[in-house]
Order: sequence, then C-alpha cells, then structure tokens
Amino acid sequence: MYFNRKDLSRHPFFKSIGISGLKDFAGKYSSPVFIYSAEAITRQINLFRKYIPQKFKLFYAQKSNPNHALLKHINSTGIGCQTASLGEIKSAIKAGFTPDKIMFTGPGKTEEELSFAISKNLLSVNAESFREIEIISRIAKRKGRIQDIMLRINPAFEAGETTRIIGGKGASKFGIDYSQIPGVIAALKKLSNINLCGIHIFNSSGILAYGKILKNTIDVIRIALELEEKFNLNFKRIDLGGGFGIPYSNSEKELDIKKLGIGLKDFINKKEIKNRLAGKELVFELGRFISAYSGIYLTKVLYTKKSCGKNIAITDGGIHHLLRPALIGQSFPAVNFSAIMQNRKKEAESYLIAGPLCTSLDEFNSDALLNKIYPGDILAVLNCGAYGFTESMPLFLTQRKSKEIIIQ
Ligand SMILES: Cc1ncc(COP(=O)(O)O)c(C=O)c1O
Repeated sequence: MYFNRKDLSRHPFFKSIGISGLKDFAGKYSSPVFIYSAEAITRQINLFRKYIPQKFKLFYAQKSNPNHALLKHINSTGIGCQTASLGEIKSAIKAGFTPDKIMFTGPGKTEEELSFAISKNLLSVNAESFREIEIISRIAKRKGRIQDIMLRINPAFEAGETTRIIGGKGASKFGIDYSQIPGVIAALKKLSNINLCGIHIFNSSGILAYGKILKNTIDVIRIALELEEKFNLNFKRIDLGGGFGIPYSNSEKELDIKKLGIGLKDFINKKEIKNRLAGKELVFELGRFISAYSGIYLTKVLYTKKSCGKNIAITDGGIHHLLRPALIGQSFPAVNFSAIMQNRKKEAESYLIAGPLCTSLDEFNSDALLNKIYPGDILAVLNCGAYGFTESMPLFLTQRKSKEIIIQ
C-alpha cells in the first residue's frame, strides 16, 4: 500500500490531525510511540450512526484498545462498552461507563469476576458454558438477585474470516454449540436466579464484504427468533458481536457500510421481522472498526541494508510494541513520514521493515512500498489503534517500553 502525501491526508488518522500536525511529534521523536486521534474514533462512530439503522445499538469492544483517555472519549459519545475481564470492567467504570452500559463476555470467567459483575448490576453477563450459568445462578442467589444473562452460541456457520482471529465455525472455546442449546435452555429454566434475556453470537472478525456481514447478521437474528418461538421465550436483546473490518493492504477494499446499512434496514423492516423484533435491542460490539484507524505507531530507522537483493530497514521499534503483524501474519501499512515531511521526490522502493529483536518474527511488513529510506527516517505504521499497544509483549528482550499519546 503506497501512500503519497495526498493519499496520506485522506487516511482517517490524518484527516483529523493533518500531516503538519504530526510533523511536531515526528520532529521531537525520541523513542517508539503510539499516537491516537480521538477525532478519528468519533468519525467511525458517526459513520456507524449515519448508515446503520438506529435499532442497532453500538458497544465498543474494549479489548481492541483499553487506553483510559480513549475510553473516556468513547464514553462521551454515548455508546456502551463490551468487556472481557475484571480489569476491563473496572477500566470501563473508571472511564465513566455506567453499569447499564457494560456487558461482560469471555470463555473463562472466574467466580471473582462473575461476582463483581453481578454485584455491579451490569447490563448483561454473556455465558459461555452451562457450568458458568450454574455459578452465576449460585452467586445471584447469594446476593438475592436475578441476573440477566445472554447465551453465547457457537453456531454452525461463520462470516468468512480470512485470517484466524475468532476462528470461524467448528470446535471452539467460545460459546456453546448450537446443537447443545436446547438442553441448556431446558436446564437453565430450572434455575431460579437466572433470566435468559438474549443470545450472543460472534463468529468472525476482520470482515470487509458487507454482504457477508449482512448475511451473518440475518442468520443470527433468525436463530434468536427461532429459539424464542421453540422455547417460548421473549428476548430483550440480540448481540451480533463485532467483526467489521478495515483494509490493511492494497488488495483489500473499505467495508461498504452504507450498503450494509441499507441491507439491514430492508431486513428489519420486513413485516414479519419488524413485528417480532419490536421491543428488542440489536447490538453490535465493534472493536477494530472503531479504534484501528485512530492509532499510528512511530518508529525510527536505525539501519538500512540489502540482503539477497531485498531492501531491509531495521527500526528501533518492533513486535514487542506491536505484535499483531506477527501474531496473525498480517502486514501493516507503513509510510516513510520523514520523506513526506521533507517533500522528497517519489522514489518508491519495496522494503522488509523489521525491528531489533532477535527473531525473524519481528517484522511489520515484508513487502512495504515506501519512499527511499535513510537511517534516521521516521516511519509511521498505520491502523495501529486496534490490537496494538496492549496486545504486544513488552517484556521480551528487555527493550524500552513504547509510549502512548492521545490527541483530543
Ligand atoms: C466477544 C467479542 N466481541 C467483540 C470483539 C471485537 O471484534 P472486532 O475487533 O473484530 O470488532 C471481540 C474481539 O475479539 C470479542 O471477542
């Protein structure tokens, strides 16, 4: 993905801060740093609000970026927060999310975590096994409460995940197999302190084809309606998970959120569906779509060399700060920001951009097209706002930790 000055100014991060805005940071560069734009986050949330029917509520999957200042900013936009650990629940509360805007999901919740979630009266605990439901019921009984839960289902379909993140269909640690759901519903009806208020299905991440998200969403809603009918239930909420993608390479295209919105609107307005969805909340809990564009990672080139005809740029930052490229084998787009700042003439070359760690896993991009690189140049790795800073391995090789800066 080659970015010239004009392309870069159209990138959602630079739309808010501008190339000149980043110049100041790059000019004072001392060590690798993540820079986040709060405005880029607002823009993504507004895009969702503009095109996706209001019936669909938006939650932020905190795991994609739990930075406190960003969480506070996201809370100020009015959306909810999806959490996956005690720490995330506490961070959400600290950032100002009220408990009725926090949901809790995860395949391995401890009793301590469940007890905290129940005592805080969170909007919902999404249960992923029958044993977990029994524990929730026991804790709720002790506290004299009836706890709303949603069942996380592992369905027999997926939305076409191309890089393994959630894992698609088949055996999974997430949720309860669809075939086991009738037995689980029958059993949980006997538990007096549990209120089954909905289902949750999240089966694929990083999806760019709007048609795939649309079909998957319709399939999930249909499953919920079928279960309601079969077991005489009345759900408050259907949680459709996350999964809206953003492009990382030239071969990928932006998700057409407008078309997705039109498709969703058509579906929920079908007469037989509209009546049955009345009074129910439909929820998307998006991570990457909200936070990815908001972050860039600045790193300095220490050395350049050639190996077997390939250009190599060795940077001071590496996968100890930004692990995702190595973790899922997905190159991240990068630009030679020094060349752009200095208006150097275009001399695009292909580079392997690699960090200082003693493992060949330590690469951001094995074939990045950038302006000719010289030692001392500052590179900006793009789309690092999601699954970046907190998904890294900062202790490896006892390197310096990266910093985080947020621009309001
Ligand atoms: C339960 C749950 N919801 C939502 C998300 C967010 O996914 P994405 O970043 O693809 O939107 C995740 C990510 O792993 C998740 O585990």
